[in-house]
Amino acid sequence: MVYPIVKLGDPVLEREAAEVTEFDTPELHKFLDDMFESMYAAKGVGLAAPQIGVSRKIAVIDVSNGEKPEDKLVLINPTILKVDGKQEGEEGCLSIPGFREQVRRGRSVTIRSQNVRGEVFEQTGEDLLARAFLHETDHLYGRLYINHISALKRDLMKRKIKKMQRAGDWS
Ligand code: NI
Repeated sequence: MVYPIVKLGDPVLEREAAEVTEFDTPELHKFLDDMFESMYAAKGVGLAAPQIGVSRKIAVIDVSNGEKPEDKLVLINPTILKVDGKQEGEEGCLSIPGFREQVRRGRSVTIRSQNVRGEVFEQTGEDLLARAFLHETDHLYGRLYINHISALKRDLMKRKIKKMQRAGDWS
């Protein structure tokens, strides 16, 4: 099932999500299938559960856009262990459609996470995957990429979005 994506302004995006404590349940497997389906339908490379209104520390990533099955990645209760180097690049978010900004991120990022069975694993990603690790983990702590841009740019973006909300173009 494809869930609608929650947009900036919904408080679920700006609060820390709850830890997952039950693993390998039929509900969790179904939810992860739905998250991948929702992410591909929205043409994203990552999706965090709060973005479909579920305040749980669950995210899915596929930097190959569905091209390589081995790139499908499930993060449950992830934390950032290590960040090395720097990369500059444009970043967007399915919850803030129509906007993109330059965001400086680490170039190499190591996470510690649990998988669908609750097993702990560590993985290092570089470039786009490093960016996705940081962006999606941020979501699970109520942070958005706009927290990493200048206050001036962020205020400008929020003003534009307020206008769209008033016009009924943002819901
Ligand atoms: Ni996002």
